[in-house]
Amino acid sequence: MSEDVSLFGLTGKKVLIIGGGQGMGEASAKFLSRAGCDVALVDLVAERAETVAAMVTANGRQAHVIVGDVLDDAQIPRIVAEAEQKLGGIDLMVSIVGAAAWGSLMDTTAAVWDQQMGLNLRYFFLVAQATAASMMQRGKGGAIVGIASVDGQRASPMRGAYGAAKAGLISLVQTMAVEWAPNQIRVNAIAPGHIVTPRLYDTPQRVEAYGKSLIPLRKRGTPDDIGKAALFLLSDLAAYVNGTTLDVDGGLLAANLFPRGLPGNNG
Ligand SMILES: NC(=O)c1ccc[n+]([C@@H]2O[C@H](COP(=O)([O-])OP(=O)(O)OC[C@H]3O[C@@H](n4cnc5c(N)ncnc54)[C@H](O)[C@@H]3O)[C@@H](O)[C@H]2O)c1
Repeated sequence: MSEDVSLFGLTGKKVLIIGGGQGMGEASAKFLSRAGCDVALVDLVAERAETVAAMVTANGRQAHVIVGDVLDDAQIPRIVAEAEQKLGGIDLMVSIVGAAAWGSLMDTTAAVWDQQMGLNLRYFFLVAQATAASMMQRGKGGAIVGIASVDGQRASPMRGAYGAAKAGLISLVQTMAVEWAPNQIRVNAIAPGHIVTPRLYDTPQRVEAYGKSLIPLRKRGTPDDIGKAALFLLSDLAAYVNGTTLDVDGGLLAANLFPRGLPGNNG
């Protein structure tokens, strides 16, 4: 590899990627392996993780596939222990899994609320807790990144439960950063804006027009934009960055515009 990656300080580091089978997780695997990391990829779908593992191997680093469901509490200790054993210790972790349910607050049932908290906040707490415990036991410090959203930082009409869960993740990351700092474990979040991932939430034409009209950079982001931010936050370049949320949104939050104007009674 011809790139000079020494600035990142990641050569030989071991990274656990939760949801590493596509999109932002795949992009994180790409940049982290190019910077010298060995990678453990956790995903529900084995074929996805295996495809990404082949790319990591082609980048000259070790790749391990762990099939599992992080929404199943009972699997989390097994997933983290398997990563620890296959990698030979965990230095870094990035957790991608999450998704928004669409609907006004008035239409949000208790079941939807619980599903959104589970998918966007609860599992992250449990996975980060188990990973940090492994890092503490090893005694070499570490770094953790969670994926929040711009929706966690302002009103989130029609995605209220999701926004509340992501706001919770931002708060949780701050507390983890403070409680785990004595162990030299840094914890940060990335807040993506509108990113073109394999799971688009709207028709491409409509989203394209929206992107052009409201995002200051006049384009939606890519999974690579998030992978690069994860690389930065997990690297030595961010050695003094702890407890922060990095907006990767083309200026969306700075512009402070609502996606479809102010909501009506039905959101
Ligand atoms: N796309 C956007 O515009 C946008 C904006 C803001 C925030 N986000 C956040 O970005 C993150 C990534 O979103 P995405 O659409 O790229 O992800 P995704 O749905 O494509 O999932 C990434 C990977 O995680 C795996 N996965 C899903 N559930 C899992 C589980 N329970 N256990 C193990 N693996 C599982 C999937 O198989 C997939 O390979 C989410 O947290 C989302 O809330 C996305």
